[in-house]
Amino acid sequence: MLTKKQTQVLDFIKVYMAKHSYAPSLDEIKKKFKLASVSTAHYYISKLQDAGFLNKEHNQPRAVSTVEAKQTVEIPILGAIAAGQPIEAIEIPDETITITRDEIGKQGKHYALRVQGSSMIDEGIFDGDIVVIRKQEVAENGQTVVAVIDDNQATLKKLYRENGKFRLQPANPTLFPIYRDEVEVRGVVVKIIRNLESQLDQGQSRDEKYVRKIDYSWDYRGEKTKSHTHGIHTYPAMFIPQVGRRLLETYSKEGDTICDIFCGSGSALVESRLIGRNAYGIDLNPLAIFLAKAKTTPINPQKLTKEYIALLDRVEKIKDKEIQRPNFKNIDFWFKDKVIVKLAKLKKAIREIKEETIQNFLMVAFSETVRYSSNTKTGEFKLVRVKGEKLEKHDPDVIGIFRKHAEKNIAGMTDFYKDAKKDSWTKIIYGDSSKDNGIKASSIDCIITSPPYGDSRTTVAYGQFSRLSAQWIDVFDDPNDASGVDNDLLGGRATKNLIHTLSSGYLKESLEKIAKQDEARAKDVLSFNLGLNECLKQAHRILKPGKYFCLVVGNRLVKQVRIPTDFIIAELAEKIGFTCEDIIVRNIPGKRMPIKNSPTNIVGALEETMNKESIVVLRKN
Ligand SMILES: C[S@@+](CC[C@H](N)C(=O)[O-])C[C@H]1O[C@@H](n2cnc3c(N)ncnc32)[C@H](O)[C@@H]1O
Repeated sequence: MLTKKQTQVLDFIKVYMAKHSYAPSLDEIKKKFKLASVSTAHYYISKLQDAGFLNKEHNQPRAVSTVEAKQTVEIPILGAIAAGQPIEAIEIPDETITITRDEIGKQGKHYALRVQGSSMIDEGIFDGDIVVIRKQEVAENGQTVVAVIDDNQATLKKLYRENGKFRLQPANPTLFPIYRDEVEVRGVVVKIIRNLESQLDQGQSRDEKYVRKIDYSWDYRGEKTKSHTHGIHTYPAMFIPQVGRRLLETYSKEGDTICDIFCGSGSALVESRLIGRNAYGIDLNPLAIFLAKAKTTPINPQKLTKEYIALLDRVEKIKDKEIQRPNFKNIDFWFKDKVIVKLAKLKKAIREIKEETIQNFLMVAFSETVRYSSNTKTGEFKLVRVKGEKLEKHDPDVIGIFRKHAEKNIAGMTDFYKDAKKDSWTKIIYGDSSKDNGIKASSIDCIITSPPYGDSRTTVAYGQFSRLSAQWIDVFDDPNDASGVDNDLLGGRATKNLIHTLSSGYLKESLEKIAKQDEARAKDVLSFNLGLNECLKQAHRILKPGKYFCLVVGNRLVKQVRIPTDFIIAELAEKIGFTCEDIIVRNIPGKRMPIKNSPTNIVGALEETMNKESIVVLRKN
């Protein structure tokens, strides 16, 4: 299906190619259609690629070429349909949409309707979408239909026949079904077209210095996020691979060198490797470094499997007296004695593997096993011990947990080994991104990152999350040092006072509001922003002029004050020598991070922290 705008973009590309023999750049498409950003131009290109109108083999806009047009069909949009309460069915053919035949099948007559209301959201049908309907008078149980009831009232619902009646079921748990003796079926939904384009270019018209653009095409709701080595270990606030890839494809090209200055477990680095970008990653959490290396180092899966099978054999034979219990504070508080013995045997068997990359890769599954077999609540990022009867009954199958993770991880590595570009490299640096980490000035083609959210008390405690694993897998010389990580991360140490010279009106306003309620919290926020400002300076130093720096950030709530971190970054960055080109807002459907926290000292009171994030696109002047 091609919408009007997509058809215009395609026509422009065709005409341009006829004249120049190569395709227009994203920037040219942006200018031609007065789009807000190159990422919007990229959106149109990928839609045209997905629909089969442009060739897919290249990522670069200049490299796209048109393919022979597929057989298309024009479908009339007959008006609106209520996905909530029924509305009068009036057919007003006003517009048409063009769809390729493949999308709707060869049989039948079709029409389209614009959806109003939210009763079908669990079926992925949202207010403003367009649904394509195949005309038919009968439907099977469970199909989504256009149903007319009560003398010409039309609605979109799932249809069920029950005890001689019809149930029209909304796909929204907050709404009730409609029961009728008679229902007239006017067709079955065969395709949903998300109404993105009207939202893409429309900014908020508030009286703000910067404009946030809501763009649902960045949500990637329901998409697989654990492919390749992405799913080998949990980490807080990981990148959705699709977001990382889209940023990389929009703002860099094959062969470029990119950098993720807060690389965490390395999601952006994995994507870089898969699409042929060289990549630096920097992080100050040793467990993150360990994971990022394991995720981005291709290992021959046959060798890996062989070592894994030998390991399972060895572990069975290790005697209790041969093991060495790790020696860190409170180990008996976090692990039962028999769990410690099993983990120690497993660790010994892994350490006996000679090839370091294989040893480290299997250590990742071991690290997950540590978390799952400890006395902690596994659904939390912070270390919280299970209590009472639950703790008494806690009897984890240590080897079983390890096998489950190791086997899943080997499958992920098999895909990564196959798909990773052989001539790209990844370098991971343990370092503080607010300092010079040895990357040459003006050497990086693109920076893509998601910074931490601020102080760990209310958001994500990377160090605390990592502590038990880090203590078991020896990423610290002294395992007791693992408890200090969070203090060293951005915003980990409050400032002494609230005096500063940062040039951001948005920050000033937020600090004043927070300080009125709680000065200590305001100092945490200031400390985070001072650190972040230094990171922006370093990013500016390493980036080539004219190139892009994309930050995926959350605007968190502190003391009920929403801190506009996206705007603050834009202001601080513009002082340093960047131009803010875009702020895109996306929903966070699946990111692992707390979405509720305690807003005040009211016991049990919960408040949303973040379910949206902003992608700030900066360009070095
Ligand atoms: C949102 S996470 C990044 C997650 C990552 N995108 C992923 O997919 O796993 C932010 C990261 O910033 C790191 N960090 C915090 N302060 C830092 C600093 N000063 N220098 C380098 N890394 C830092 C944290 O350790 C954490 O791993």
